[in-house]
Amino acid sequence: MIPKGGDFSEKIVLKNESAVSPSSPVTLTPARHCVGGALRVMVRRQRACKVGGRGMDRIRITGGQKLNGIIPIAGAKNAALPLMIASLLTDETLILDNVPRLADVALLQRILGNHGVDITVNGKRLGETQYDGQTLHISAANIIDTTAPYELVSRMRASFWVIAPLVARMGEAKVSMPGGCAIGTRPVDLLILALENLGAEIAIDKGYVIARAKNGLKGGRIVFPKVTVSGTHTALMAASLAHGFTEIENAAREPEIADVADCLNKMGAKISGAGSSHIVVEGVPRLKGARHRVLPDRIETGTYAMAVAMTGGDVLLENARVELLQTPLDVLMRCGVSVSPTNAGVRIARNGSGIAPVEVTTAPFPGFPTDLQAQLMALMTRANGTSRITETIFENRFMHVQELVRLGARIQLDGDCATIEGVDALKGAPVMATDLRASVSLVIAGLAAEGETMVNRVYHLDRGFERLEDKLSACGAAIERLSG
Ligand code: UD1
Repeated sequence: MIPKGGDFSEKIVLKNESAVSPSSPVTLTPARHCVGGALRVMVRRQRACKVGGRGMDRIRITGGQKLNGIIPIAGAKNAALPLMIASLLTDETLILDNVPRLADVALLQRILGNHGVDITVNGKRLGETQYDGQTLHISAANIIDTTAPYELVSRMRASFWVIAPLVARMGEAKVSMPGGCAIGTRPVDLLILALENLGAEIAIDKGYVIARAKNGLKGGRIVFPKVTVSGTHTALMAASLAHGFTEIENAAREPEIADVADCLNKMGAKISGAGSSHIVVEGVPRLKGARHRVLPDRIETGTYAMAVAMTGGDVLLENARVELLQTPLDVLMRCGVSVSPTNAGVRIARNGSGIAPVEVTTAPFPGFPTDLQAQLMALMTRANGTSRITETIFENRFMHVQELVRLGARIQLDGDCATIEGVDALKGAPVMATDLRASVSLVIAGLAAEGETMVNRVYHLDRGFERLEDKLSACGAAIERLSG
């Protein structure tokens, strides 16, 4: 249950949160500072919140089965998270449809609850093979706390983004720096740059970024020195409520940015150019409620497309849209995979032919996404020849390499470049991964490996893939979750 805005408890105990992180229970002490001045009775209430609670689960795969059937693609995690955060910009209700059931979404619900946001969740699974995303009714009518504590922000980096709507609407925000993560240092300097360009005063104190704009933000010109999704989301949300015009140069062009901008426009924002590298925002004094459907997840689409490429077979990725992942689909076609858009989604097939090797460099959209790099590498371990994959977005995003090697892959790393020599067969083994996309690359490898592969630390998968084992087993994979 999500805490109610008006009477949110002062102390929450997060128990069994292992689906998000394996760490022990955390005690939070929030809400010292209540914007709006209302004196609130802080009711001490202990909540035993469980996000999945399946952190020690494992996934067992017996490789060698082809995939055939239909896989429904869920709403995009990377759009759902900023859309939920955008609810902080208005005191009216934002309704989001097609929100995926993921541990990251559940955690963000809790984080928003900490600020006083009310969220109700509707939407049932329709049946074994039918899925329907959740509908969230999100109301930030009463923001009771503009602080986002370390204990929460450190669990999910994207929660740092609350800084933008909070400072834009409330005039101040105090948000913990997210810290490092498994795929590199991931700084927030460009988010701060965006807010400073809009007139926010920024201070760093005891690991927190404090942003203030007592008289509101002012439109300005933001020129990002590198393409950043988080920076662009921050700039868009902040500029929507700033006085005057904002220009964003070298903006990220990811479809999730355009999706969020679309929703903000429904809420009354005046944004043009989202989806291109030059965005113009005319600030408005207030935003209103709206209803918005989250676009399909292009990373989930690409992941299952690579799984089919790996095993062979023929699968319809229902609801998928080719224009969201043209580059990865082009790469798959170069590998010898058949890709056919249909009215219902995208059909992926590989029958008979082997997998041709490719050379790929990750890049911001519309380039090859870093979030599909690990999955492509798993596929290339079975290619007929030598492939090369260069990672340009995140340093240290090769954590899956050693685990793929445990399955018999031949991979050499040289800085940001991996050379993969295709092998005739992978052999099942116990493996584990340290981030979301790396975990799923091991599942893809396991689907084609001889014998049994046990993927440990499944909580990473639950952060970003809804019912992965159900979707794959419905298409013939021998895959099951073992409770930890
Ligand atoms: C988002 C996605 C993530 C994806 C990534 C790149 C979400 C929730 N996450 O992450 O899945 O892998 O885009 O497509 O949408 N950088 C800085 N300073 C900053 C911010 C970023 O140097 O202040 C750097 C990062 O370290 C990285 C690059 O910019 O090297 C791109 O990061 P960014 O696009 O911001 O990624 P995220 O938004 O964190």
